[in-house]
Amino acid sequence: MKKWFAVIGDPIAHSKSPNMHNTWFDEMNIDAAYIPIHVKSEDLENAVASLKMLGASGWNVTIPHKQTIIPYLDELDPLAKKMGAVNTVLCLPDGSLKGYNTDGAGFVHSLEEVIGNDKKTLEVLLIGAGGAARGIAFALQQYGYHNLTVTNRTVEKAKEIVSELGEGRALSITETEHSLDKFGIVIQCTSAGLGNSEFRLPLSLEKLQEGAIAADIVYNPLMTPFLLEAQMKNAKIVNGLGMFVHQGAIAFRYWLEQYPNTNNMIKRLTDELNRS
Ligand code: ATR
Repeated sequence: MKKWFAVIGDPIAHSKSPNMHNTWFDEMNIDAAYIPIHVKSEDLENAVASLKMLGASGWNVTIPHKQTIIPYLDELDPLAKKMGAVNTVLCLPDGSLKGYNTDGAGFVHSLEEVIGNDKKTLEVLLIGAGGAARGIAFALQQYGYHNLTVTNRTVEKAKEIVSELGEGRALSITETEHSLDKFGIVIQCTSAGLGNSEFRLPLSLEKLQEGAIAADIVYNPLMTPFLLEAQMKNAKIVNGLGMFVHQGAIAFRYWLEQYPNTNNMIKRLTDELNRS
């Protein structure tokens, strides 16, 4: 029987996931389909029951359901449990539902695709302490990055992440700006300026280390104000598209036990975003 998958969220029309997964099915001759489904918060429980009843093999979960879906799942992967958020659901052969979170690991795969996997001892700075930053912090720890500092406008939230990690440091934005030159990897995980033309960077990059790696989780636009500023300071930049593609590829692997071609997809979506 043809397998089918979905992404549920609100809003959902903008999602690039259907196009990405359907392209991979075509490329790999897999008889499957992937559709976007608009699910409002009040309909989440019914939506999960319907997806199950209609035989979906799995689905992605996006804003605003990544936390609220958890009570409707039977089992959680340990990393998703730590993060308290799920972006991928796998329907197991016995009909039970297992939740995963591939966002943070997607980020690490994307980072290591650009910088290699031998830079784990560098000092890493995470800017932001929301859901995205939390996911990346836990994934970095799992992949062996232990020199982690978190900074955030609301420093208490950075302290919470560090306390849950059981390692690392939390710094205020001002303290971070003063010591920015010690970080080899700087990751922008805030939503500052999203959808706002009056953009200010979450912190000054004045003291950015020469040759540092600067990554942003935003992929539209590909060149964010943070990356532009970092590039002007001679940083090696990593945009957010790789994270998006790899989170999808890791979900794909949970569903179908094969890893799709991420390089072609990144090229294809880069061209698309540059055209739009
Ligand atoms: P997400 O799930 O995308 O991480 P979130 O949980 O709402 O979204 O978190 C947003 C992050 O962006 C937070 O770290 C937030 O800082 P606060 O905790 O101080 O609110 C940060 N952020 C949002 N707007 C910002 C701004 N204008 N300047 C600096 N940080 C900002």
